Amino acid sequence: MKKGLFISLILTSILLISRAQSTPKLGIDPIADVIAAMTKEEKIRMVLGTKLLGNPSGEPIIGYTDTLVVGAAGTTFGITRLGIPSVVMADGPAGVRISPTRKNTNETFYCTTFPCAMSLASTWNTELVEMVGEAMGNEGKEYGVDILLTPALNIHRTPLCGRNFEYYSEDPLVSGKIAAAMIRGIQKNGIGTSIKHFAANNQEINRRSISANMSERALREIYLKGFEIGIKESNPWTVMSSYNKINGVYTSESFDLLETILRKEWNFNGFVMTDWGGGKNPVDQMFAGNDLLMPGHYEQMLKLIKASEEGLLDEAVLDRNIKRILDCVIKTPRFQGYNYSDKPNLTKHAGISRDAASEGIVLLKNENSTLPLGVETKIVLFGNTSYDTYKGGIGSGDVHSSYKVSVYDGLKNVGFRLSENLFNKYKDYLAELNKSYKIMKGKPVVPKPEMKLSEEEIIELEKESDMAIMTIGRYSGEFADIASYYYLTKEEMSLLKSIYKIFNKKGKSVVVILNTGSVMDVSQWNHMADAILSTWYSGQEAGNAIADVITGKVNPSGKLATSMPLSYEDFPSSAHYPGYPVENPTNVDYCEDIYVGYRFFTSFNIKTEYEFGYGLSYTEFGYSDLKKAVDFSNNEIHISFKVKNEGKTAGKEIAQLYISAPSAGKNKPAKELKAFSKTRLLQPGEEELIETKLKFSDLASFSEKENAWIVESGKYSIEIGASSLNTLLSESFNLEKKMKVLETTPVLPLKKNIAILKL
Ligand code: BGC
Repeated sequence: MKKGLFISLILTSILLISRAQSTPKLGIDPIADVIAAMTKEEKIRMVLGTKLLGNPSGEPIIGYTDTLVVGAAGTTFGITRLGIPSVVMADGPAGVRISPTRKNTNETFYCTTFPCAMSLASTWNTELVEMVGEAMGNEGKEYGVDILLTPALNIHRTPLCGRNFEYYSEDPLVSGKIAAAMIRGIQKNGIGTSIKHFAANNQEINRRSISANMSERALREIYLKGFEIGIKESNPWTVMSSYNKINGVYTSESFDLLETILRKEWNFNGFVMTDWGGGKNPVDQMFAGNDLLMPGHYEQMLKLIKASEEGLLDEAVLDRNIKRILDCVIKTPRFQGYNYSDKPNLTKHAGISRDAASEGIVLLKNENSTLPLGVETKIVLFGNTSYDTYKGGIGSGDVHSSYKVSVYDGLKNVGFRLSENLFNKYKDYLAELNKSYKIMKGKPVVPKPEMKLSEEEIIELEKESDMAIMTIGRYSGEFADIASYYYLTKEEMSLLKSIYKIFNKKGKSVVVILNTGSVMDVSQWNHMADAILSTWYSGQEAGNAIADVITGKVNPSGKLATSMPLSYEDFPSSAHYPGYPVENPTNVDYCEDIYVGYRFFTSFNIKTEYEFGYGLSYTEFGYSDLKKAVDFSNNEIHISFKVKNEGKTAGKEIAQLYISAPSAGKNKPAKELKAFSKTRLLQPGEEELIETKLKFSDLASFSEKENAWIVESGKYSIEIGASSLNTLLSESFNLEKKMKVLETTPVLPLKKNIAILKL
């Protein structure tokens, strides 16, 4: 043998042997090899967040980590020898939630508070939401975050849910489309999202233990549909299971939910994490396909080790879950060595936040064109939240921004001259009040009592002004629901009454601004307001965005993504909320079934104060030229129509398409939203052609009897208009044959008899 060949053979064998003996590395070697090189202990640590709560030396705070990015919600376990980094997760729905300050540095790490989810949904503008997502994702990436724990899209089943501000709508299509846009925007940056809380986390009362009991039809058509749309359209990297149970089973322990529906039916290929400390049995969670337990608990580790020693935890299950986690880790900026700046463009993002916030404002009432106002108008500004405006809600959905703009600041910024005297009075009053005012974790937030003003004082203020604005605020969030604060408090009502009486007598108007994280009662007092703006939690630029709408710089184009009925009792969930036993509920029966929100009001002819899809503009729109073409070869319907700005001000319109299915004996809602479209800014006289396509499968309802999504035969009506009640164009088409669009396996059966509402 030639000497050269001999040496090269030797070298190759050395290389091969050393290769075989060297430790595999993530990103270089196959993931299966990396997993095979883990010890049993390492495998168990990989399916737990790094926090290890309850660890004798561990830190006790949930949703907060000091490692890597201070104040982020949690981190995954890393194994350096295998090239696996620990990756960072941070909340949440209204911006990146991290700590704004750090030990040993004067540098700050503020983030933008964007408008809350409910405000974003009220824009019905998927392009805008995608832009917000892109900015939010960029901030996350520049601060070293790998996965943002958003979007949250639980259905607004009750107006009392403390976290409604983090969720989008009572309707799954709006929720799903807005969530899909948010995911697209964030993930464009190459960081991940976690669509949450999967599923049916519709109240805060006993959220960690309550069983939401419902039919499979309601589960699939209402509570899962938005997730299905978000996941299929935008492929989030991760899903977060919810705290609650569905029909007696913790969602994080439900194979039906996480494997059968999420993975088998919807082809989700990312990983599933628990909500922070969610569920009970880590072995069941592993088996159910809840791959990662966050933020990680010492007890969970002991239980998994024990189960594994006793042969009760199949190693193949662990391997499967770890593979899903690593498939995601490999995509993260941290794994790819991204050199983050800690300096996102906060100025640019503040501008995006302001634009989005103004578009989410819903003009509910505008008698005699009270709004918009010229900046020369002399306004008296009442209400605590005019001066201390809520930018966001409580808990993990809150963001640490460096400032917030109150309604007062915003109006001043655009040139209104406001009473300094009254400002100082409110400032002193609020400072004094705040000394004793406390928010108790787990208890409904009591609204701050309004400052008392005598009629004489209000008369004096009226004399120097042209009109009054009163802001009414509600603070809400994680850990507690809203309780009786759905209605105005006695003090608020009496202040509004006095203001209205005094100003109205002098022919001066009163405008009410709502600064809330959910819908609240309007029926008992809206006769005392000439104009009403529902502004939600508008983020750090709240006051500027509100001023933009008040001056007409922005023509309001938001519409309600959740109905405002005549009374709390009109919500179909009200008879069954918060569950039973009342003092400490363990179960809540979703007896209203699929009749949530406008599906209920329109099917049972219940009058609402402001219906789903409603919102006014400073201009008017005309609808025309509805055309439809049924394409039987592709199982589609093509629909087009025109929207024209017929008023004198430029504006945007949200056109909605509802379908009434053939209903005889079929227990179908009177109508269901199947598509929506927001026009561009239309100048007076300008027109936009809207074209949309529905698949026959979009018309399907879920049949428990047939275990399938079914499109019934018969006549379908198409209703196009400006709200769920304001139909402006209609058409119909016939489907001759009934169609089974998807067969399913029965899942999550109801374990008790509940009195399900039927039409
Ligand atoms: C919330 C989640 C959040 C997590 C981490 C939980 O309490 O329910 O929405 O992502 O904390 O902060």
